[in-house]
Amino acid sequence: MIPGMKLGLGLLGAVGATLLGVAMISEFQAPPLEVVQRGFRGVAMEVNYNEKQLATYLAENKVPASLPQAPAAGAKAGAVYKNVQVLGDLSVGQFTRLMVSITNWVSPKQGCAYCHNTANMAEDNLYTKIVSRRMFQMTQYINADWQQHVQGTGVTCYTCHRGNPVPKNIWFTDPGPRTSGSGMISAGAATGQNLAAKSVNYASLPYDPFTPFLENDHSIRVQGDEALPGSNRHSIKEAEWTFALMNYFSNSLGVNCTYCHNSRAFSDWSQSSPAKVVAWHGINMTRNLNNDYLKSLTNAWPANRLGATGDSPKLACATCHQGVYKPLYGVSMLKDFPELAHPGGAGLAYLNASWTPPGGSLEQAKPADQPKISQ
Ligand code: HEC
Ligand code: HEC
Ligand code: HEC
Ligand code: HEC
Repeated sequence: MIPGMKLGLGLLGAVGATLLGVAMISEFQAPPLEVVQRGFRGVAMEVNYNEKQLATYLAENKVPASLPQAPAAGAKAGAVYKNVQVLGDLSVGQFTRLMVSITNWVSPKQGCAYCHNTANMAEDNLYTKIVSRRMFQMTQYINADWQQHVQGTGVTCYTCHRGNPVPKNIWFTDPGPRTSGSGMISAGAATGQNLAAKSVNYASLPYDPFTPFLENDHSIRVQGDEALPGSNRHSIKEAEWTFALMNYFSNSLGVNCTYCHNSRAFSDWSQSSPAKVVAWHGINMTRNLNNDYLKSLTNAWPANRLGATGDSPKLACATCHQGVYKPLYGVSMLKDFPELAHPGGAGLAYLNASWTPPGGSLEQAKPADQPKISQ
């Protein structure tokens, strides 16, 4: 094992340069590029963006129109229906509006029958209904207990599903290619060398940055606090693993490293942008959701829907963000669906009367200008 982050970072630089080359070939953008300064002058803490491309992203990340509110008065769903375990506090009108909305968000082509035996709506015979019930709980939990990450913006089923029963950016543990013991691949493949994986933007980096960091809590920190190798026992392999995860972060949010870091000191929190702290909560939230919600459903999915190691599908940053620094550019759908904001179903008192949703304009799509940096 070779200690010393200096070497590790040198390597990161080399891989980064290659990566940049690839990105430029595949996603060449015509000028002019706009630049937003996000840190002190001279430290290159900037975000580059292209107005034309932003307009495309903005169109892809519009929230759908909400159905008109249903009256809160009247009989409760829990009293009228036979098998309502999570949403019982809603009126029958509110409950029906929500069923129609989730159908639009999750299974617009398949309709109610994606989750229901339409001859007996109370039956729990389809795995999709079991999964959905847990998804209701997960959505309420995110919005109520992870505001350090999702703020008041929060999430609905649409944030991840966008009209797809299976969200676009999910992951499974990747056991990698089978190695032959003495084979050529095994020398490098153990950490993903020489394997171009989409998860890390086709760089020669570990192809599964998810399992160690976003399911297990392997430490992401690798940088030493001395100039020369000495007390830092982290290996180059570990540095590559961190770099793989960081590439995934950048791609998931459509930002560069300096959106979160001052690149003269990646590990120094006091020189980083506030977004790094939000991202840190995001790492903990993602781990928590994978372990307490997605993994707890492993037995619900049919066996042919599980991963190569028999694991459940899982989520990560891109499941919500989908290439944008705030999912749906920070436009909240919770104002129209307060029942998803709190466990217990009703939760209508949650919303602050003076709160108005952001507009979703081109201004909204530009990365935030100059956030405060302590120091
Ligand atoms: C994405 C999955 C999904 C879709 C699509 C869906 N539902 Fe549901 N539905 C559920 C879940 C989950 C429950 C149970 C909620 C609970 O336990 O609180 C439920 C419960 C119900 C119930 C209560 C049945 C009873 O007697 O217990 C009715 C009625 C219902 N849905 C109607 C509909 C209608 C009508 C549609 C189509 C417009 C629809 N649902 C589409 C997931 C879905
Ligand atoms: C934070 C992201 C996220 C949110 C929010 C979310 N889901 Fe999911 N959902 C997932 C992931 C990840 C899966 C696993 C993918 C799979 O099934 O292969 C999933 C799977 C499902 C499935 C099973 C699809 C299948 O055929 O396998 C249904 C149905 C579903 N979700 C409904 C909902 C409903 C209803 C809501 C809102 C109450 C919701 N989801 C909110 C991420 C999310
Ligand atoms: C969305 C925010 C975000 C982006 C973008 C991002 N990082 Fe990070 N990075 C973090 C967070 C948060 C941590 C700290 C994780 C922890 O301490 O558990 C971190 C940690 C690191 C570390 C380890 C620092 C240490 O303490 O040893 C390095 C090195 C690093 N990032 C490099 C990069 C590089 C290179 C890029 C661009 C490819 C990048 N990061 C992009 C948020 C980000
Ligand atoms: C459950 C959905 C969800 C997941 C998963 C998720 N995020 Fe977020 N994230 C959000 C929402 C919603 C916001 C917007 C909060 C707001 O309005 O300020 C956000 C905001 C952020 C911001 C702040 C952006 C800014 O400019 O202020 C960063 C950085 C971020 N997320 C990074 C991450 C990273 C890194 C991961 C994966 C480790 C991640 N997120 C996973 C939903 C999610």
